[in-house]
Amino acid sequence: MIPLAGLSAEQESLREIAYRFAADKIRPVAAKLEEKGEFPASIIKEGHGLGLINVTLPVEFGGSGLSIFDACLVIEEIAWGCSGFATSMVANDLALTPLRIGATDEQKARFIEPIASSGQLASFCLTEPGAGSDAAGLQTTVEDGGDCWIINGSKQWITNAGHATQFTVFASIDKTKKHKGICCLVVPRSTPGVSVGHHENKMGQRCSDTCRVTFDNVRVPKDHMIGAPGEGFRIAMQTLDASRPMTAAIAVGIGRAAFEHALAYSKERKQFGASISSFQGIQFMIADMATSVDSSRLLTWRSAWLLDQGKPASVESSMAKRFAADTAMSVATDAVQIFGGYGYTKEYPVEKLMRDAKLLQIYEGTSQIQRVVIARELLKR
Ligand code: CAA
Repeated sequence: MIPLAGLSAEQESLREIAYRFAADKIRPVAAKLEEKGEFPASIIKEGHGLGLINVTLPVEFGGSGLSIFDACLVIEEIAWGCSGFATSMVANDLALTPLRIGATDEQKARFIEPIASSGQLASFCLTEPGAGSDAAGLQTTVEDGGDCWIINGSKQWITNAGHATQFTVFASIDKTKKHKGICCLVVPRSTPGVSVGHHENKMGQRCSDTCRVTFDNVRVPKDHMIGAPGEGFRIAMQTLDASRPMTAAIAVGIGRAAFEHALAYSKERKQFGASISSFQGIQFMIADMATSVDSSRLLTWRSAWLLDQGKPASVESSMAKRFAADTAMSVATDAVQIFGGYGYTKEYPVEKLMRDAKLLQIYEGTSQIQRVVIARELLKR
């Protein structure tokens, strides 16, 4: 692991813990789990023991209490090991951040602490079959049932849903109010009426668990609502602002892994009597790959740093997520190109990185939605 300029000794130690976990526990099994589409429950549990999940959640509620900046350092290493693991391991932060933002201390103790301290998993349920980019168009409803809330609807592409014991669900109390009618609720998986669909057979990040979750007349107590009715959309958007740097860090980890494989292979592979790394065509690719991965990391660090200072960072988070995701895709594609025919086979690691990278341009807001967020804000200023 190469030290990164500007980090403190403590931050390098933190990276080292995550790097060792990725190198020793994740990389040796990643290809096999990928092929089988198998969720690495026991390894994630080990990661919990090392404080590598729930990284941004407060220590008093069972989390590791890292800043978003330090969390990005950890997540890049995990994603360097395998981004399917990183997606699964960061999903608890995504699911429980709405509670960190909007819950009372009593709710945090009840809904964050038991999950975070035990290593159980939770899922963030915003997206629906008909509401992806248009999050405010969600159709799941919540109605007042007197002594409870009653939830009906379906959520799609829910990370960790097959293994989660708790869901953070966004539902509308009044669709005519559009985003102003959206509420945020905590739903234990054991509640009658909750059902989880099959593990989706995905192109990449195949070991991460992605399912549909359906709520059929699901009743939860009144004190399971986070914030006031109608505050759910703001809570969801603030959560995505906070989590997009961490998603960008996953993209940085993929880009770095692809770059490292391509660099090493370019020195080994001989054509026309010389290593292909001696040809300027390959050297320029190597130079551009390294520059783009570094640029992604710096944008990621800036957005994380701003959030840690309590400053607004929607634009910077979206810039980091958009640029890092598109970079992961282009660097992984170039890595396959440098490997040539071998890169196109499953004998070498770069085709997996190319498939894994594609998801970064889609989940947690597509690259197009990041541009919408950036442009809207810039035009408002
Ligand atoms: N912070 C606080 N408030 C915000 C906000 C933010 N970042 N962004 C918007 N809002 C507020 C606005 O101020 C506005 O409030 P008022 O009405 O009081 O003025 C309100 O929210 C509505 O905002 P918009 O008009 O901008 O809303 P919109 O409907 O046009 O959509 C959007 C905005 C940015 C496109 C949003 O729908 C969006 O982010 N879409 C992408 C959704 C997404 O990222 N989904 C990923 C799901 S998670 C996932 O993939 C994880 C996984 O499991 C792997």
